[in-house]
Amino acid sequence: MVITTATNYELETSDGSAYYDGKAERISFDDSKTGVKGLVDSGVSKIPRMFYSGKLDLTETLLSASKISVPVIDLQDMEKSSSQHAEVVGKIGSACRKWGFFQVVNHDVGVEVLDEMISGIRRFHEQEGEVRKEFYSRDSNKKVRYFSNGGLLRDLDQPANWRDTVSFVANPDLPNPEEIPAVCRHIVAEYSKKIRALGVTILELLSEALGLDPSYLKKMDCSEALFIMGHYYPACPEPELTLGSIEHTDMDFMTILLQDQMGGLQVLHENQWINVPPLRGALTVNIGDLLQLMTNDMFISVKHRVVASHIGPRISVGSFFMNFTMSKCTSKVYGPINELLSEENPPIYKDITMKDFLTHYYSKGSDGKSCLLPFKI
Ligand code: OGA
Ligand code: NI
Repeated sequence: MVITTATNYELETSDGSAYYDGKAERISFDDSKTGVKGLVDSGVSKIPRMFYSGKLDLTETLLSASKISVPVIDLQDMEKSSSQHAEVVGKIGSACRKWGFFQVVNHDVGVEVLDEMISGIRRFHEQEGEVRKEFYSRDSNKKVRYFSNGGLLRDLDQPANWRDTVSFVANPDLPNPEEIPAVCRHIVAEYSKKIRALGVTILELLSEALGLDPSYLKKMDCSEALFIMGHYYPACPEPELTLGSIEHTDMDFMTILLQDQMGGLQVLHENQWINVPPLRGALTVNIGDLLQLMTNDMFISVKHRVVASHIGPRISVGSFFMNFTMSKCTSKVYGPINELLSEENPPIYKDITMKDFLTHYYSKGSDGKSCLLPFKI
């Protein structure tokens, strides 16, 4: 029997043993509808236990990240000549095989659009709590919503991320302008249009890097739906105890990430966490689980995370290229691409429907393990 209660949800039972009611802590946090930003605004100096992810040596993670870095690829080069185009395709293919990540520069999304998108997302999160609350929702069918930690009440054994998110679903079209919060309405519309165009260009380059027709991945509906997540990572009073984002792979085909100048994103490369340094004007591209499956492991979906910091906020925008959301998902089948298979390279995954994949993804929670394991032959 619980005999004492405390606001930190650490209770003592009648036999003297400690008891922590993590679920109650999460429900109370969710009920506030103002996210991690709300906690910080209320002046917390200790972070709630639901955010504990195990002690992290931040000095070590910075040291380990000094020498090598994810490839930076200049997209302007590819317009100069067919040999330069081939060189860009070669670099992208190599980055996708070795890193699963690369940064692109000179990509046609102007730096003023990138800056204004970061500012727009920041404006959303820095509105009064009462205004933000209006958008707070756990209904993933909503085209526009504000939330903290998608799996908060589902993945109870996973530490919560020190971040909040505003998301926009373009499936295939963006929500009506009046549904988008006024503080970022104009820029979200512009950014999503430009990012979708860049996404299609990159899917063409990825198709070519696989030796396929440039239109191959687009024809497979890999850019049908676009999910835009505007993340806000407030300054954290105890950054060594938590993470801005716990380690995970992305479950989509491909992600294009915009980060501000704060840093904190790291990728797991040959068992070392490597920083992805902010590079003004650059966008980071990474391969998701579905493209790893389609390429039969030729391209890799790599674990990444975001460390927390005393200094903040940090703002980033992830654009996830998908097919359909759960509610609209079809029986469309994805599996290793036939043209890539041979006697030496037999399929290592089954053909699966989007529904199989998403059902598994949502039931498993973001436990840091690949979504692909159950689909291995
Ligand atoms: C993500 C992600 C990294 C970042 O949203 O999946 O990995 O820098 N974000 O916010
Ligand atoms: Ni991610």
